[in-house]
Amino acid sequence: MTNLIDNTKISFAAIKENLLEKFDKTHSAPLVEAMLNYKKLPMTGFHIPGHNRGLGVLPEFSALVGQDALSLDTTDEFDNLGTLHPATGAIEKAQILASQAFGSRKTYFVTGGSTVANLALAFAFTSPFDEVLIGRNCHRSVLTGMIISGAKVNWVIPKKLNDWAIFGNIEAGDVEEKLKNNRNIKLVWITNPTYEGVVSDIEKISEICRRYKAALIVDEAHGCLWNFSSKLPKTALEFGADAVVHSLHKTGGAMTQSSMLHISKNSKFEDEKITHALKLLHTTSPSLLLLASLDAARANLQSSNGKKMLDGAIENALYFRNEAKNIDKLQVLSDENIDITKIFLKIEGLSGVELEYILEHDYKIEVESASDEGILILSNIGNTREEFEYLVNCFREISKKEYLKKEMKNKIMPLIDPEIVMNLREAYFAPKEYINKNDAVGRISSEVFALCPPGISILLPGELIKKEHLPYLFSCEKIEVIKE
Ligand SMILES: Cc1ncc(COP(=O)(O)O)c(C=O)c1O
Repeated sequence: MTNLIDNTKISFAAIKENLLEKFDKTHSAPLVEAMLNYKKLPMTGFHIPGHNRGLGVLPEFSALVGQDALSLDTTDEFDNLGTLHPATGAIEKAQILASQAFGSRKTYFVTGGSTVANLALAFAFTSPFDEVLIGRNCHRSVLTGMIISGAKVNWVIPKKLNDWAIFGNIEAGDVEEKLKNNRNIKLVWITNPTYEGVVSDIEKISEICRRYKAALIVDEAHGCLWNFSSKLPKTALEFGADAVVHSLHKTGGAMTQSSMLHISKNSKFEDEKITHALKLLHTTSPSLLLLASLDAARANLQSSNGKKMLDGAIENALYFRNEAKNIDKLQVLSDENIDITKIFLKIEGLSGVELEYILEHDYKIEVESASDEGILILSNIGNTREEFEYLVNCFREISKKEYLKKEMKNKIMPLIDPEIVMNLREAYFAPKEYINKNDAVGRISSEVFALCPPGISILLPGELIKKEHLPYLFSCEKIEVIKE
Protein backbone atom coordinates (compact mmCIF):
# COMPACT_ATOMS: atom_id res chain seq x y z
CA MET A 1 0.00 0.00 0.00
CA THR A 2 2.74 2.44 0.99
CA ASN A 3 4.53 1.59 -2.15
CA LEU A 4 1.54 2.45 -4.30
CA ILE A 5 1.13 5.90 -2.75
CA ASP A 6 4.84 6.65 -3.10
CA ASN A 7 4.78 5.65 -6.75
CA THR A 8 1.76 7.83 -7.31
CA LYS A 9 3.59 10.89 -6.08
CA ILE A 10 6.57 10.25 -8.28
CA SER A 11 4.62 9.54 -11.43
CA PHE A 12 2.22 12.43 -10.81
CA ALA A 13 4.97 15.00 -10.99
CA ALA A 14 6.56 13.43 -14.06
CA ILE A 15 3.36 12.98 -15.95
CA LYS A 16 1.99 16.40 -15.07
CA GLU A 17 5.12 18.11 -16.31
CA ASN A 18 5.08 16.09 -19.47
CA LEU A 19 1.44 16.78 -20.17
CA LEU A 20 1.56 20.47 -19.36
CA GLU A 21 4.49 20.86 -21.70
CA LYS A 22 2.55 19.08 -24.42
CA PHE A 23 -0.57 21.14 -23.76
CA ASP A 24 1.34 24.42 -23.97
CA LYS A 25 2.84 23.39 -27.29
CA THR A 26 -0.29 22.20 -29.01
CA HIS A 27 -3.25 23.71 -27.17
CA SER A 28 -5.01 20.70 -28.53
CA ALA A 29 -7.39 19.00 -26.14
CA PRO A 30 -6.77 19.99 -22.50
CA LEU A 31 -9.51 17.83 -21.06
CA VAL A 32 -8.39 14.81 -23.03
CA GLU A 33 -4.89 15.44 -21.74
CA ALA A 34 -6.15 15.79 -18.17
CA MET A 35 -8.02 12.51 -18.51
CA LEU A 36 -4.91 10.84 -19.83
CA ASN A 37 -3.09 12.15 -16.83
CA TYR A 38 -5.86 10.89 -14.53
CA LYS A 39 -5.78 7.46 -16.15
CA LYS A 40 -2.06 7.10 -15.73
CA LEU A 41 -2.16 8.05 -12.05
CA PRO A 42 -2.87 5.11 -9.79
CA MET A 43 -4.65 7.27 -7.16
CA THR A 44 -6.46 5.39 -4.44
CA GLY A 45 -10.00 6.73 -4.64
CA PHE A 46 -12.54 6.93 -1.83
CA HIS A 47 -15.14 8.88 -3.73
CA ILE A 48 -18.01 8.75 -6.21
CA PRO A 49 -18.45 6.81 -8.48
CA GLY A 50 -18.38 3.91 -6.09
CA HIS A 51 -17.34 1.36 -8.67
CA ASN A 52 -13.84 2.85 -8.21
CA ARG A 53 -12.47 2.73 -11.75
CA GLY A 54 -14.51 -0.29 -12.72
CA LEU A 55 -13.52 -2.57 -9.84
CA GLY A 56 -17.02 -2.66 -8.39
CA VAL A 57 -19.07 -3.64 -11.42
CA LEU A 58 -20.59 -6.83 -12.77
CA PRO A 59 -17.68 -8.71 -14.39
CA GLU A 60 -19.71 -9.30 -17.56
CA PHE A 61 -20.32 -5.56 -17.86
CA SER A 62 -16.65 -4.86 -17.34
CA ALA A 63 -15.79 -7.39 -20.06
CA LEU A 64 -18.34 -5.77 -22.35
CA VAL A 65 -17.22 -2.14 -22.10
CA GLY A 66 -13.64 -2.76 -21.05
CA GLN A 67 -11.77 -1.87 -17.90
CA ASP A 68 -10.16 1.06 -19.66
CA ALA A 69 -13.44 2.77 -20.35
CA LEU A 70 -14.73 2.11 -16.84
CA SER A 71 -11.58 3.49 -15.31
CA LEU A 72 -12.39 6.80 -17.01
CA ASP A 73 -15.92 7.00 -15.70
CA THR A 74 -15.68 9.79 -13.19
CA THR A 75 -17.31 13.10 -12.43
CA ASP A 76 -15.91 16.59 -11.97
CA GLU A 77 -14.22 17.92 -8.82
CA PHE A 78 -11.83 14.99 -8.47
CA ASP A 79 -8.27 14.37 -9.61
CA ASN A 80 -7.51 17.87 -10.89
CA LEU A 81 -9.97 17.54 -13.73
CA GLY A 82 -11.73 20.82 -12.96
CA THR A 83 -15.40 21.58 -12.36
CA LEU A 84 -18.22 22.28 -14.78
CA HIS A 85 -20.36 24.68 -12.71
CA PRO A 86 -18.52 26.96 -12.37
CA ALA A 87 -16.11 26.01 -15.15
CA THR A 88 -12.62 25.62 -13.78
CA GLY A 89 -9.39 23.83 -14.65
CA ALA A 90 -9.16 21.66 -17.74
CA ILE A 91 -12.93 21.85 -18.26
CA GLU A 92 -12.77 25.63 -18.45
CA LYS A 93 -9.80 25.47 -20.84
CA ALA A 94 -11.70 23.04 -23.06
CA GLN A 95 -14.75 25.30 -23.12
CA ILE A 96 -12.61 28.30 -24.05
CA LEU A 97 -11.02 26.39 -26.94
CA ALA A 98 -14.47 25.32 -28.11
CA SER A 99 -15.66 28.91 -27.95
CA GLN A 100 -12.70 29.97 -30.12
CA ALA A 101 -13.30 27.16 -32.59
CA PHE A 102 -17.00 27.93 -33.00
CA GLY A 103 -16.58 31.70 -32.85
CA SER A 104 -18.76 32.31 -29.82
CA ARG A 105 -18.39 34.70 -26.90
CA LYS A 106 -18.92 31.85 -24.50
CA THR A 107 -19.47 28.13 -24.92
CA TYR A 108 -20.92 25.78 -22.35
CA PHE A 109 -20.53 22.01 -22.33
CA VAL A 110 -23.76 20.15 -21.62
CA THR A 111 -23.98 16.46 -20.79
CA GLY A 112 -27.78 16.23 -20.95
CA GLY A 113 -27.88 16.70 -24.70
CA SER A 114 -29.37 19.65 -26.53
CA THR A 115 -32.52 18.95 -24.54
CA VAL A 116 -30.90 20.47 -21.44
CA ALA A 117 -29.35 23.27 -23.50
CA ASN A 118 -32.80 24.24 -24.80
CA LEU A 119 -34.36 23.97 -21.36
CA ALA A 120 -31.66 26.21 -19.93
CA LEU A 121 -32.13 28.82 -22.67
CA ALA A 122 -35.86 28.89 -22.04
CA PHE A 123 -35.34 29.06 -18.30
CA ALA A 124 -32.79 31.85 -18.62
CA PHE A 125 -34.39 34.07 -21.22
CA THR A 126 -38.16 33.70 -20.98
CA SER A 127 -40.55 34.55 -18.14
CA PRO A 128 -44.24 33.92 -17.51
CA PHE A 129 -46.41 35.48 -20.25
CA ASP A 130 -43.48 36.59 -22.43
CA GLU A 131 -44.43 36.21 -26.08
CA VAL A 132 -42.10 33.91 -28.01
CA LEU A 133 -42.21 33.05 -31.71
CA ILE A 134 -41.25 29.41 -32.32
CA GLY A 135 -41.00 27.31 -35.48
CA ARG A 136 -43.57 24.51 -35.25
CA ASN A 137 -40.90 21.97 -36.15
CA CYS A 138 -38.98 22.68 -32.95
CA HIS A 139 -37.79 19.87 -30.72
CA ARG A 140 -40.11 19.13 -27.84
CA SER A 141 -37.46 20.31 -25.35
CA VAL A 142 -38.10 23.90 -26.49
CA LEU A 143 -41.74 23.43 -25.53
CA THR A 144 -40.88 21.81 -22.23
CA GLY A 145 -38.85 24.98 -21.68
CA MET A 146 -41.98 27.01 -22.30
CA ILE A 147 -43.92 24.88 -19.81
CA ILE A 148 -41.22 25.58 -17.23
CA SER A 149 -41.13 29.31 -17.87
CA GLY A 150 -44.80 29.94 -18.63
CA ALA A 151 -44.03 31.98 -21.75
CA LYS A 152 -46.70 32.22 -24.41
CA VAL A 153 -45.97 30.40 -27.66
CA ASN A 154 -46.72 31.97 -31.04
CA TRP A 155 -46.12 29.58 -33.93
CA VAL A 156 -44.45 30.20 -37.22
CA ILE A 157 -45.27 27.26 -39.46
CA PRO A 158 -42.45 26.08 -41.73
CA LYS A 159 -43.05 25.46 -45.39
CA LYS A 160 -44.67 22.05 -45.84
CA LEU A 161 -43.00 19.70 -48.27
CA ASN A 162 -46.15 17.67 -48.82
CA ASP A 163 -44.59 15.25 -51.32
CA TRP A 164 -42.13 14.26 -48.65
CA ALA A 165 -44.48 14.66 -45.66
CA ILE A 166 -41.94 16.78 -43.82
CA PHE A 167 -41.50 20.36 -42.79
CA GLY A 168 -39.15 22.46 -44.90
CA ASN A 169 -37.56 25.84 -44.27
CA ILE A 170 -39.02 28.71 -42.31
CA GLU A 171 -39.66 31.67 -44.59
CA ALA A 172 -38.09 34.91 -43.38
CA GLY A 173 -41.20 36.74 -44.64
CA ASP A 174 -43.40 34.65 -42.31
CA VAL A 175 -41.21 35.57 -39.35
CA GLU A 176 -41.46 39.26 -40.28
CA GLU A 177 -45.24 39.03 -40.65
CA LYS A 178 -45.56 37.55 -37.16
CA LEU A 179 -43.27 40.15 -35.60
CA LYS A 180 -45.08 42.97 -37.39
CA ASN A 181 -48.45 41.77 -36.12
CA ASN A 182 -47.37 41.17 -32.55
CA ARG A 183 -44.94 43.74 -31.23
CA ASN A 184 -44.84 41.96 -27.87
CA ILE A 185 -42.73 39.15 -29.30
CA LYS A 186 -39.23 39.62 -27.96
CA LEU A 187 -37.72 36.23 -28.79
CA VAL A 188 -37.66 34.10 -31.95
CA TRP A 189 -36.61 30.43 -31.75
CA ILE A 190 -35.81 28.65 -35.01
CA THR A 191 -34.67 25.08 -35.68
CA ASN A 192 -32.08 25.02 -38.44
CA PRO A 193 -31.46 22.81 -40.34
CA THR A 194 -34.50 20.58 -40.16
CA TYR A 195 -33.86 16.97 -39.22
CA GLU A 196 -33.82 16.13 -42.94
CA GLY A 197 -31.30 18.89 -43.69
CA VAL A 198 -33.45 21.70 -45.10
CA VAL A 199 -31.86 25.07 -44.35
CA SER A 200 -33.63 28.36 -43.59
CA ASP A 201 -32.28 31.81 -44.42
CA ILE A 202 -30.97 32.64 -40.97
CA GLU A 203 -29.09 35.70 -42.20
CA LYS A 204 -32.37 37.28 -43.27
CA ILE A 205 -34.27 36.07 -40.20
CA SER A 206 -31.53 37.47 -37.98
CA GLU A 207 -31.70 40.84 -39.73
CA ILE A 208 -35.49 40.90 -39.26
CA CYS A 209 -35.13 40.03 -35.58
CA ARG A 210 -32.70 42.90 -35.11
CA ARG A 211 -35.11 45.30 -36.83
CA TYR A 212 -37.95 44.23 -34.55
CA LYS A 213 -35.67 44.15 -31.50
CA ALA A 214 -36.30 40.47 -30.88
CA ALA A 215 -33.59 38.09 -29.72
CA LEU A 216 -32.87 35.02 -31.88
CA ILE A 217 -32.07 31.51 -30.69
CA VAL A 218 -31.17 28.94 -33.33
CA ASP A 219 -31.40 25.28 -32.43
CA GLU A 220 -28.63 24.06 -34.72
CA ALA A 221 -28.57 20.64 -33.08
CA HIS A 222 -28.09 19.00 -36.49
CA GLY A 223 -25.61 21.56 -37.85
CA CYS A 224 -22.59 21.28 -35.59
CA LEU A 225 -20.25 20.47 -38.50
CA TRP A 226 -21.02 23.60 -40.46
CA ASN A 227 -18.33 25.66 -38.84
CA PHE A 228 -15.66 23.29 -40.11
CA SER A 229 -16.30 23.26 -43.86
CA SER A 230 -16.96 25.95 -46.43
CA LYS A 231 -18.95 23.34 -48.38
CA LEU A 232 -21.64 23.28 -45.72
CA PRO A 233 -24.12 26.03 -44.80
CA LYS A 234 -23.03 28.84 -42.49
CA THR A 235 -23.67 28.60 -38.77
CA ALA A 236 -26.10 31.02 -37.14
CA LEU A 237 -23.21 32.19 -34.92
CA GLU A 238 -21.91 33.99 -38.01
CA PHE A 239 -25.29 35.50 -38.76
CA GLY A 240 -25.84 37.17 -35.41
CA ALA A 241 -28.11 34.75 -33.58
CA ASP A 242 -27.92 35.42 -29.86
CA ALA A 243 -27.55 31.78 -28.86
CA VAL A 244 -26.97 28.55 -30.76
CA VAL A 245 -27.27 24.93 -29.65
CA HIS A 246 -25.18 22.13 -31.13
CA SER A 247 -25.62 18.40 -30.56
CA LEU A 248 -21.98 17.43 -30.98
CA HIS A 249 -23.02 13.88 -30.22
CA LYS A 250 -25.31 13.72 -33.23
CA THR A 251 -22.84 14.29 -36.06
CA GLY A 252 -19.78 15.95 -34.51
CA GLY A 253 -18.09 12.83 -33.18
CA ALA A 254 -18.77 13.36 -29.46
CA MET A 255 -20.34 10.72 -27.26
CA THR A 256 -24.10 10.38 -26.90
CA GLN A 257 -25.68 13.13 -24.73
CA SER A 258 -22.83 15.61 -25.30
CA SER A 259 -23.86 19.03 -26.59
CA MET A 260 -22.66 22.62 -26.61
CA LEU A 261 -24.53 25.82 -25.97
CA HIS A 262 -22.97 28.91 -27.51
CA ILE A 263 -23.62 32.56 -26.70
CA SER A 264 -22.63 34.56 -29.76
CA LYS A 265 -20.09 37.37 -29.77
CA ASN A 266 -22.61 40.21 -30.00
CA SER A 267 -25.38 38.46 -28.12
CA LYS A 268 -27.92 40.52 -26.21
CA PHE A 269 -28.11 37.72 -23.66
CA GLU A 270 -26.32 38.06 -20.35
CA ASP A 271 -23.92 35.18 -19.82
CA GLU A 272 -24.71 35.12 -16.09
CA LYS A 273 -28.33 34.20 -16.77
CA ILE A 274 -27.45 31.09 -18.75
CA THR A 275 -24.68 30.17 -16.33
CA HIS A 276 -27.26 30.30 -13.57
CA ALA A 277 -29.94 28.37 -15.50
CA LEU A 278 -27.50 25.62 -16.48
CA LYS A 279 -26.34 25.31 -12.91
CA LEU A 280 -29.93 24.74 -11.78
CA LEU A 281 -30.95 22.35 -14.55
CA HIS A 282 -27.80 20.39 -15.24
CA THR A 283 -26.79 17.24 -13.41
CA THR A 284 -24.42 17.94 -10.53
CA SER A 285 -22.44 14.85 -11.55
CA PRO A 286 -21.41 15.47 -15.15
CA SER A 287 -19.66 12.56 -16.79
CA LEU A 288 -16.03 13.43 -17.47
CA LEU A 289 -16.05 10.93 -20.31
CA LEU A 290 -18.77 12.93 -22.02
CA LEU A 291 -17.10 16.26 -21.31
CA ALA A 292 -13.78 14.95 -22.62
CA SER A 293 -15.55 13.64 -25.70
CA LEU A 294 -16.72 17.20 -26.42
CA ASP A 295 -13.16 18.44 -26.12
CA ALA A 296 -11.96 15.59 -28.34
CA ALA A 297 -14.67 16.19 -30.96
CA ARG A 298 -13.78 19.88 -31.24
CA ALA A 299 -10.05 19.14 -31.43
CA ASN A 300 -10.65 16.44 -34.01
CA LEU A 301 -12.75 18.67 -36.24
CA GLN A 302 -10.04 21.33 -36.12
CA SER A 303 -7.25 18.89 -36.88
CA SER A 304 -6.09 18.02 -40.40
CA ASN A 305 -7.27 14.46 -39.86
CA GLY A 306 -10.70 15.66 -38.78
CA LYS A 307 -10.88 17.92 -41.82
CA LYS A 308 -10.15 14.89 -43.98
CA MET A 309 -12.96 12.99 -42.26
CA LEU A 310 -15.40 15.83 -42.88
CA ASP A 311 -14.29 16.23 -46.50
CA GLY A 312 -14.81 12.49 -46.83
CA ALA A 313 -18.36 12.73 -45.44
CA ILE A 314 -19.16 15.51 -47.92
CA GLU A 315 -17.62 13.65 -50.86
CA ASN A 316 -19.46 10.46 -49.92
CA ALA A 317 -22.72 12.38 -49.79
CA LEU A 318 -22.06 13.91 -53.21
CA TYR A 319 -21.07 10.51 -54.59
CA PHE A 320 -24.29 8.97 -53.28
CA ARG A 321 -26.46 11.82 -54.54
CA ASN A 322 -24.87 11.54 -57.97
CA GLU A 323 -25.22 7.76 -58.22
CA ALA A 324 -28.80 7.95 -56.96
CA LYS A 325 -29.78 9.92 -60.08
CA ASN A 326 -29.25 6.79 -62.15
CA ILE A 327 -31.12 4.40 -59.90
CA ASP A 328 -34.62 3.63 -61.03
CA LYS A 329 -37.47 4.57 -58.71
CA LEU A 330 -35.10 6.27 -56.24
CA GLN A 331 -35.71 9.90 -55.42
CA VAL A 332 -33.50 12.02 -53.14
CA LEU A 333 -34.63 15.26 -51.51
CA SER A 334 -32.47 17.87 -53.21
CA ASP A 335 -32.54 21.60 -52.89
CA GLU A 336 -29.95 24.30 -53.06
CA ASN A 337 -30.75 25.04 -49.41
CA ILE A 338 -29.83 21.71 -47.99
CA ASP A 339 -27.11 20.23 -45.84
CA ILE A 340 -25.99 17.63 -48.37
CA THR A 341 -24.77 15.21 -45.70
CA LYS A 342 -28.37 14.51 -44.74
CA ILE A 343 -29.92 12.33 -47.39
CA PHE A 344 -33.70 11.95 -47.27
CA LEU A 345 -34.93 9.59 -49.96
CA LYS A 346 -37.78 7.42 -51.08
CA ILE A 347 -38.30 4.54 -53.44
CA GLU A 348 -41.41 4.35 -55.57
CA GLY A 349 -43.80 1.65 -54.38
CA LEU A 350 -42.28 1.26 -50.93
CA SER A 351 -43.01 3.20 -47.78
CA GLY A 352 -40.02 4.47 -45.83
CA VAL A 353 -40.77 2.01 -43.05
CA GLU A 354 -40.82 -0.90 -45.54
CA LEU A 355 -37.58 0.30 -47.09
CA GLU A 356 -35.99 0.54 -43.66
CA TYR A 357 -37.08 -3.04 -42.94
CA ILE A 358 -35.62 -4.31 -46.22
CA LEU A 359 -32.31 -2.54 -45.64
CA GLU A 360 -32.09 -3.85 -42.11
CA HIS A 361 -33.08 -7.45 -42.75
CA ASP A 362 -31.78 -8.13 -46.23
CA TYR A 363 -28.69 -5.93 -46.21
CA LYS A 364 -27.81 -5.35 -42.53
CA ILE A 365 -27.97 -1.61 -42.99
CA GLU A 366 -29.30 0.65 -40.28
CA VAL A 367 -30.55 4.08 -41.29
CA GLU A 368 -31.09 7.18 -39.15
CA SER A 369 -34.89 7.08 -39.34
CA ALA A 370 -37.88 6.12 -41.46
CA SER A 371 -41.31 7.59 -41.98
CA ASP A 372 -44.14 6.31 -44.13
CA GLU A 373 -42.77 8.48 -46.89
CA GLY A 374 -39.01 8.01 -46.87
CA ILE A 375 -35.84 7.25 -44.96
CA LEU A 376 -33.05 9.44 -43.68
CA ILE A 377 -29.43 8.47 -44.23
CA LEU A 378 -26.58 10.45 -42.74
CA SER A 379 -23.21 10.73 -44.40
CA ASN A 380 -21.12 10.88 -41.26
CA ILE A 381 -17.49 11.63 -40.50
CA GLY A 382 -17.19 8.01 -39.42
CA ASN A 383 -18.48 6.49 -42.68
CA THR A 384 -16.23 5.15 -45.41
CA ARG A 385 -16.54 5.29 -49.21
CA GLU A 386 -16.81 1.48 -49.23
CA GLU A 387 -19.89 1.70 -47.04
CA PHE A 388 -21.47 4.14 -49.47
CA GLU A 389 -20.56 1.97 -52.46
CA TYR A 390 -22.29 -0.92 -50.71
CA LEU A 391 -25.32 1.29 -50.05
CA VAL A 392 -25.52 2.34 -53.69
CA ASN A 393 -25.36 -1.31 -54.81
CA CYS A 394 -28.10 -2.24 -52.36
CA PHE A 395 -30.36 0.47 -53.76
CA ARG A 396 -29.59 -0.69 -57.32
CA GLU A 397 -30.70 -4.18 -56.32
CA ILE A 398 -33.77 -3.04 -54.38
CA SER A 399 -34.92 -0.84 -57.27
CA LYS A 400 -34.95 -3.88 -59.58
CA LYS A 401 -36.88 -6.17 -57.23
CA GLU A 402 -40.62 -6.48 -57.08
CA TYR A 403 -41.84 -6.23 -53.52
CA LEU A 404 -45.31 -7.14 -52.46
CA LYS A 405 -47.31 -3.94 -52.74
CA LYS A 406 -48.90 -2.82 -49.50
CA GLU A 407 -51.47 -0.15 -49.06
CA MET A 408 -49.74 3.08 -48.04
CA LYS A 409 -50.82 4.29 -44.64
CA ASN A 410 -51.24 7.90 -43.59
CA LYS A 411 -48.14 9.98 -43.90
CA ILE A 412 -46.49 9.85 -40.56
CA MET A 413 -45.11 13.36 -40.25
CA PRO A 414 -48.09 15.43 -39.23
CA LEU A 415 -48.35 18.76 -40.96
CA ILE A 416 -51.46 19.87 -39.10
CA ASP A 417 -51.71 23.53 -38.12
CA PRO A 418 -52.20 23.81 -34.35
CA GLU A 419 -55.24 25.49 -32.85
CA ILE A 420 -54.20 26.92 -29.50
CA VAL A 421 -56.94 27.16 -26.90
CA MET A 422 -54.92 27.53 -23.71
CA ASN A 423 -51.44 28.62 -22.70
CA LEU A 424 -49.04 25.67 -22.68
CA ARG A 425 -48.08 25.88 -19.02
CA GLU A 426 -51.63 26.59 -17.90
CA ALA A 427 -52.84 23.52 -19.79
CA TYR A 428 -50.03 21.36 -18.50
CA PHE A 429 -50.98 22.05 -14.89
CA ALA A 430 -54.79 22.18 -15.35
CA PRO A 431 -57.06 19.39 -13.98
CA LYS A 432 -57.15 16.50 -16.43
CA GLU A 433 -58.97 13.33 -17.24
CA TYR A 434 -58.31 10.27 -19.36
CA ILE A 435 -60.81 9.59 -22.11
CA ASN A 436 -61.08 7.17 -24.98
CA LYS A 437 -59.00 8.33 -27.95
CA ASN A 438 -62.03 8.21 -30.23
CA ASP A 439 -63.97 10.60 -27.99
CA ALA A 440 -61.15 13.11 -27.96
CA VAL A 441 -61.99 15.18 -31.04
CA GLY A 442 -62.98 18.68 -29.94
CA ARG A 443 -61.31 18.35 -26.52
CA ILE A 444 -58.16 20.14 -25.38
CA SER A 445 -55.01 18.06 -25.15
CA SER A 446 -53.03 18.06 -21.95
CA GLU A 447 -50.34 15.72 -23.25
CA VAL A 448 -47.28 16.27 -25.41
CA PHE A 449 -47.38 14.01 -28.46
CA ALA A 450 -44.14 14.10 -30.39
CA LEU A 451 -42.71 11.56 -32.78
CA CYS A 452 -39.15 10.60 -31.97
CA PRO A 453 -36.97 10.94 -33.88
CA PRO A 454 -36.98 13.83 -34.47
CA GLY A 455 -39.11 14.91 -31.50
CA ILE A 456 -41.38 17.29 -33.42
CA SER A 457 -44.75 17.83 -31.76
CA ILE A 458 -48.02 16.68 -33.20
CA LEU A 459 -50.19 17.86 -30.35
CA LEU A 460 -49.42 19.89 -27.26
CA PRO A 461 -51.10 20.78 -23.99
CA GLY A 462 -53.64 23.53 -24.68
CA GLU A 463 -54.24 22.55 -28.33
CA LEU A 464 -57.55 21.47 -29.81
CA ILE A 465 -57.67 17.79 -30.78
CA LYS A 466 -58.88 17.39 -34.36
CA LYS A 467 -59.92 14.34 -36.34
CA GLU A 468 -56.69 14.63 -38.36
CA HIS A 469 -54.66 13.98 -35.20
CA LEU A 470 -56.16 10.55 -34.50
CA PRO A 471 -54.01 8.48 -36.91
CA TYR A 472 -50.91 9.84 -35.20
CA LEU A 473 -52.02 8.86 -31.72
CA PHE A 474 -51.67 5.19 -32.59
CA SER A 475 -49.65 4.37 -29.49
CA CYS A 476 -52.47 5.08 -27.04
CA GLU A 477 -56.00 3.85 -26.41
CA LYS A 478 -56.77 6.58 -23.92
CA ILE A 479 -55.69 10.17 -24.06
CA GLU A 480 -55.25 12.80 -21.38
CA VAL A 481 -57.34 15.92 -21.92
CA ILE A 482 -58.29 19.01 -19.95
CA LYS A 483 -61.19 18.26 -17.61
CA GLU A 484 -64.41 19.98 -18.67
C1 LIG B 1 -33.58 20.04 -33.43
C2 LIG B 1 -33.30 19.29 -32.17
N1 LIG B 1 -33.02 19.97 -31.06
C3 LIG B 1 -32.75 19.36 -29.90
C4 LIG B 1 -32.76 18.00 -29.81
C5 LIG B 1 -32.45 17.33 -28.51
O1 LIG B 1 -31.19 16.82 -28.61
P1 LIG B 1 -30.55 15.76 -27.62
O2 LIG B 1 -30.98 14.44 -28.11
O3 LIG B 1 -29.11 16.06 -27.79
O4 LIG B 1 -31.03 16.05 -26.25
C6 LIG B 1 -33.03 17.22 -30.96
C7 LIG B 1 -33.04 15.76 -30.89
O5 LIG B 1 -33.28 15.04 -31.81
C8 LIG B 1 -33.33 17.89 -32.17
O6 LIG B 1 -33.62 17.21 -33.28
